[in-house]
Amino acid sequence: PEVDLDEVYNFALELGQAAGKILDDGWKSRCNGDGDNKTVEKDSAVDIVTQTDEDVEAFIKEKITNRFPSHKFIGEETYGKGSSKEYLIDDDPTWCIDPLDGTVNYTHIFPMFCVSIGFILHGDPVIGVINAPFLHQTFSACRGKGAWLNGTQRLPLLRNPIPPMPVNAPQSCVFACEWGKDRRDRPDGNLYRKVESFVNMAAEVGGREGKGGMVHGVRCLGSATLDLAYCAMGAFDIWWEGGCWEWDVAAGMCLVREAGGLVTTANPPSNVSDAVIEDARPGSRLYLAIRPAGDCARESGRE
Ligand code: IPD
Repeated sequence: PEVDLDEVYNFALELGQAAGKILDDGWKSRCNGDGDNKTVEKDSAVDIVTQTDEDVEAFIKEKITNRFPSHKFIGEETYGKGSSKEYLIDDDPTWCIDPLDGTVNYTHIFPMFCVSIGFILHGDPVIGVINAPFLHQTFSACRGKGAWLNGTQRLPLLRNPIPPMPVNAPQSCVFACEWGKDRRDRPDGNLYRKVESFVNMAAEVGGREGKGGMVHGVRCLGSATLDLAYCAMGAFDIWWEGGCWEWDVAAGMCLVREAGGLVTTANPPSNVSDAVIEDARPGSRLYLAIRPAGDCARESGRE
């Protein structure tokens, strides 16, 4: 059956508000020490789940199943518990949910956490709602309708006309990256490459008076979802992560694209203009997001 994107978008927005309230309540009782402060390890010591992750996912799943019984559902916690780790994002309408992105932040009282609700059609994320309750920020996007902060401010929030990426990007950029959960340190491994990228981008030879330093800043928020939202906003120029999951990126990819930015599968390049531009899809595993700039933003229909 035909999918009514307006109906799904409005539903996702309501869901984002309700789920954000559960996160907020959980956070407050965690801070007060009067809630269930359960924290359980999953695949590794850095891959953890709280009662709040499970509560929010159960809540969202029930709402979606009742309203759209024919739609598929992929959630971080349901997936982890499934008897089979196989699933497929195909042409079917599919919800892709991270009930609590930034779980480690949440347990350490660092307020960079959110619920991420993505809706995928024909393999493309076409709706994204991200609610970060502590920050009072709700990001939302629907294909063809642009990306928004709190429903009123169109993204990116950069001044108009949107400044192009610095010619020598990543020089003068704010670069965001995540540590991910694969901490193995081997020459071809995840951590090794990340450290190398951080160091090279932050301290690349040259710079004024030979002091080095290309990027304005390197940020690691602990939430891939919020990284993408801040790319859509224009706060981060570039974000890179290898190894994150569909639910970490589904909603954020829609945000970045609707704002006029790019999400590709390129490796962090020494010069962004050299990047191989191939559209990423949920499941790509390697993501490079580039904030909206110049022509990209105009192409998105932004006024
Ligand atoms: C994780 C966070 C983290 C990223 C990981 C994600 P979670 O999600 O977004 O920043 O590096 O790849 O899995 O476990 O907090 O939902």
